[in-house]
Amino acid sequence: RRRCLKGAWCMTVVDDGAFSGFAERARQRLPRLFADYVDGGAHGERSMVRNRAAFGKWGVVPRGLRDVSRIETGVRCFGQDWAAPIMLAPVGFAGMLHSDRETGAARAAKRSGAGFAVSTFSIDAMEDVAAVGGKPFAQIYVFRDRDLTRDMLARAASCGIEGIIVTIDTAITPVRERDVRNGFRHLARPSVRQLIGLAGRPRWSAGMLKHGMPLIGNLRPYTIVRGVMGQAREMAAQIDPTLDQAGLEWLRSEWKGQLVVKGVMHPDDARLSLDAGADGLIVSNHGGRQMDPSPATIEVLPRIAEVVGGRADIVLDSGIRRGGDVVTALALGATAVSVGRPWAWALAADGERGVVSAIETLTQEVRDVLGLAGLRDIASLRAAGPCALWRM
Ligand code: FNR
Repeated sequence: RRRCLKGAWCMTVVDDGAFSGFAERARQRLPRLFADYVDGGAHGERSMVRNRAAFGKWGVVPRGLRDVSRIETGVRCFGQDWAAPIMLAPVGFAGMLHSDRETGAARAAKRSGAGFAVSTFSIDAMEDVAAVGGKPFAQIYVFRDRDLTRDMLARAASCGIEGIIVTIDTAITPVRERDVRNGFRHLARPSVRQLIGLAGRPRWSAGMLKHGMPLIGNLRPYTIVRGVMGQAREMAAQIDPTLDQAGLEWLRSEWKGQLVVKGVMHPDDARLSLDAGADGLIVSNHGGRQMDPSPATIEVLPRIAEVVGGRADIVLDSGIRRGGDVVTALALGATAVSVGRPWAWALAADGERGVVSAIETLTQEVRDVLGLAGLRDIASLRAAGPCALWRM
């Protein structure tokens, strides 16, 4: 039970799994309104809870009598080779959490061999993130003004980005009660209470002030207003709520590299995306931050994997907190997983170093579970499929 700024109680408690140490440290270091921004979900936060609870319904069956002296966690996904089946999901405003910002997180992903996606709402511009050299994906939206989208694509191509991720589950921005209580969206003109809250976290403010007032560097060319929240409001209003299959086909015609569709929760959306020419899918309910109530991603994955039938890579996110969750997702048809809050907490807790450590923690757990399941590598796990699992 945690007290929110305006006196109400946030009752939702979810298990942060292997990342609870990072999450705790992040909550200590961050001003409340940022901690709640990361932790929170839409409406009743039921999807967020369900994402975690649904993994509890699966076990991985222990196997012995097999040579597991060497375990390989490497995987090929979305045209890249990763050292583990893990990607860092796009997280908006991540650069507000620590002075290492998104470039620090991208460096951590590169050092650990994990995939990385830079959010549209990123404090560091995609050009700076790409300069780190880990071949990040640029997460984009289809904007009402198609020329803006075209410009984002041109920028991505010219800084050497090879893949884009288009998010399709944000046609509406739902109420997030914690953010409303904390006045998160009004941070452009902070109240006295908010200023006290910001100043009350000296380690965070010292880090931030080192670089002056942050801006959404990635959107700087398109915004005229000042301040992070002003920029965010201006650009969120640009997200095109009319986006449909034709819109996706348009995007396909504009972008020659890898095109990944993020926010797929229904087999028909998977089919539409592939028909429109998508190369990959991300099964995601945005970590419970959009539709509430939504089924858990692990619940809808098998039907989506069936429709895809191996034609495209599938990444699953929302609620991945343990190696067992990763193994479950891969056994049910995912090629890899991505994590959002875990790396945001790790960045807030300890910058680039924290993110490296978070990826290592999850990778080690994946290795433990694979080995104890008698599986030497990801290919054997994918071949075993649901036979490696137990419905609890
Ligand atoms: C997100 N997510 C997100 N997704 C996206 O496509 N663009 C974005 O800008 C953001 N921003 C964002 C901010 C924060 C604070 C969070 C926690 C999440 C969603 C993200 O990419 C991913 O789908 C979820 O975070 C996965 O769930 P978990 O791992 O956080 O449970």
